[in-house]
Amino acid sequence: VSEEIDLVAEINKLKKEKNAVILAHYYQEGPIQDIADFVGDSLALSQKAAEVDADMIVFAGVHFMAETAKILNPDKLVVLPDLRAGCSLAESCPPASFKEFVDAHPDHTVVTYINCSADIKALSDIVCTSSNAEKIVASIPEGTPIIFAPDRNLGAYIQKKTGREMLLWDGACYVHEAFDIDKILKLAKENPDAEIIAHPESQAHILKVAKYIGSTSGLINHVKTSPKKEFIIATEAGILHKMKAEVPNKKLIPAPVEKDVSCACSECHFMKMNSMQKLYLCMKHESPAVVVPMDISKRALLPIERMLEISA
Ligand code: 13P
Ligand code: SF4
Repeated sequence: VSEEIDLVAEINKLKKEKNAVILAHYYQEGPIQDIADFVGDSLALSQKAAEVDADMIVFAGVHFMAETAKILNPDKLVVLPDLRAGCSLAESCPPASFKEFVDAHPDHTVVTYINCSADIKALSDIVCTSSNAEKIVASIPEGTPIIFAPDRNLGAYIQKKTGREMLLWDGACYVHEAFDIDKILKLAKENPDAEIIAHPESQAHILKVAKYIGSTSGLINHVKTSPKKEFIIATEAGILHKMKAEVPNKKLIPAPVEKDVSCACSECHFMKMNSMQKLYLCMKHESPAVVVPMDISKRALLPIERMLEISA
């Protein structure tokens, strides 16, 4: 793309010409969030995808999110600016070994966090996100054994919240596992008025010191509504874009990560694979498109619809 091109103007033009809608996650770079028609957490994005009325869905997020939008809209074109935008949680749950695990526990209800591939969703009874996981698990009749996959940290947190014993898959998000508890506590000492808040993909020792735990939307809403003026935020740094816009006068401190990660904050390199240029190009060429084989798509739709029904 030539340096001269006004990407904002061109993307807006393509939106109209192609009757496209841009859905973006809070971890996307600022300009992408600004040009999107809708920005949200994973639940809000799937709710939006379920009701979208457009010919093309442009998903500015990672692959499993775009895949969920495609499963909900099998007849629509769903494009992702960079098809390589994966997720360490989704990768930590390979379909063949997960199928073996599920087959070995046939009496278990399978709850999967939305951060997994369509193949994994097709092996599930119900999907959840970080904002509704507690509600979804609580909806399963007492006494029914549960498998929870793929996030061991969210699983352990929900186990504690609901008091339900669950078989946890051993997956994790590399971004949320990078936080350094010693550095966070040192920061908290230096900023005694700051409140530590965290995403539930973080490890138990981080969640233990957090005063608020929630999804990206939950965290944004918390800094907006809390009387507190300072926060140490343990989630992906992209969230600061929306937070700064919502609470320009509050002090927002990204939680520090362990030493050998290049940036001082926690960044998801998968989310950051998308750029304004790639967004423009994928809309222009209507490619790369997200493809889900029809048999998988049909099976994956049921557990997503069950989640949407409970979360309505
Ligand atoms: P939420 O926006 O649903 O909290 O998800 C966070 C995340 O890690 C997305 O990949
Ligand atoms: Fe996956 Fe973690 Fe990146 Fe979210 S932040 S997309 S869970 S790797």
